[in-house]
Amino acid sequence: GLALAAMEPRSNNRRLVLFPLPFQGHINPMLQLASILYTKGFKIIIIHTDFNSPNQSNYPQFTFRSISDGLSKSKNGGLNLETTNHAINFMNKSCIAPFTVCLAKLLEVEPVACLISDALWYFTQSVADSLKLKRIVLRTSSMSCIPVYAAFVGGEKSYFKTAIKEELALMTEKDIEKVYKNGSEKSKEELICNMIKETKAASGIIFNTFKELEEPAFLAISQDFQNPSFPIGPFHKYFPASSSSLLEQDRSSILWLDKQPVSSVVYVSFGSIAQMGEAEFTEMAWGLANSKQRFLWVIRPGSVSGSQWLESLPKGFEEEVGERGCIVKWAPQQEVLAHQAIGCFWTHNGWNSTLESICEGVPMICSPCSYDQPINARYVTDVWKVGVMLDKEMNREETGIAIKCIMEKEGSEMRERSKSLQEKVNQSMQKGGTAYQSLDNLVDCILSFSC
Ligand code: UDX
Repeated sequence: GLALAAMEPRSNNRRLVLFPLPFQGHINPMLQLASILYTKGFKIIIIHTDFNSPNQSNYPQFTFRSISDGLSKSKNGGLNLETTNHAINFMNKSCIAPFTVCLAKLLEVEPVACLISDALWYFTQSVADSLKLKRIVLRTSSMSCIPVYAAFVGGEKSYFKTAIKEELALMTEKDIEKVYKNGSEKSKEELICNMIKETKAASGIIFNTFKELEEPAFLAISQDFQNPSFPIGPFHKYFPASSSSLLEQDRSSILWLDKQPVSSVVYVSFGSIAQMGEAEFTEMAWGLANSKQRFLWVIRPGSVSGSQWLESLPKGFEEEVGERGCIVKWAPQQEVLAHQAIGCFWTHNGWNSTLESICEGVPMICSPCSYDQPINARYVTDVWKVGVMLDKEMNREETGIAIKCIMEKEGSEMRERSKSLQEKVNQSMQKGGTAYQSLDNLVDCILSFSC
């Protein structure tokens, strides 16, 4: 607890209902936000789906209510990138009735100051309206992806015509293609358009970022949206994400890191949703081997299509890398990134991973898959200049070269640049800083709602 620990909790006894989207990259920031607002004196009620329900025993101070999501058990096991946006759109319909009933019941007991829902739970705006409740959204990604998404609302094809603003012009055609990759274009459009529309209709937007990192996007959003934005992050600087981990974090990775030299290890993880084919996985493995560097590789069970876990590792790989490599199913990522042995992070640029890496000053190798990741990656490489892009098909020679290059040459310059970002984060969270002030503004905004 950085700034918050030093503060007197302002007990106010108002109740807040929080509704996280049931995916790891969304559950982590929502539960971190819950902890932050709890410290500010609010009573916290979490409504969650049966699917991917959070571990309640880690949060005895919160009240939990579960609703059914309509996803069948068999479907749960088989969710992948291709079906994630379908699943989100599906749940935005299947949850309407159970969510409305649950929220109405809570309101019967005691008033609620407001609903805070993930921005991708777009159906909740009309539910909140019908119950005369204010809704604030939590957008778990960067602010910079909002103007890009908002431009899509006019139709993806019109993107380049409307891309007059500087920050939009950054994106390459390939980045845009990737945003749309995986799943049908129609279901992504449905998701993005509804998200933007109902985010505009909300009473405010909370972002897990800080203003200095994304000033142009902050200004663009302030101009285009009527409602206030509250960039109060990075949340993980207040509370770690480990207690909301859905998978068990393998701590043996830390013991292994303890034995490695300073800045010598490539940390590889593509988050909780990304999936890859066997051919891509093979290239990735040989790229790591060819780089001759030490590595800690998170291979999530089920993340390689057709494999339970490590069956797809190419023959001869383990003999080739020997003690140089450590593979785990899931790692305590924040601790890993903060470890002195880490030299760089080969990432898919999910926003949580990107922010966690920036805060530890770890240079990135960016292999964005889809959604907001290509946008985050473009900022990492071209604006903050703390990473290199690998945006071609996965190829062992090129990956090997990129890894070697960042570990042996470019990484140290990036670390230097990262230092100024780290200073900005710390300033922003101190009394008088922008994130600190935004958090106060958010609390005042919620307290101003009549309930
Ligand atoms: C998804 C999207 O990809 C992302 O772009 C969006 O902003 C949020 O939802 P995900 O793909 O899982 O999330 O990536 P990311 O945002 O990086 O979140 C992963 C989280 O899991 C991070 O908080 C990370 O610390 C944690 N993690 C990851 C672990 O605890 N252990 C691991 O081994 C890997």
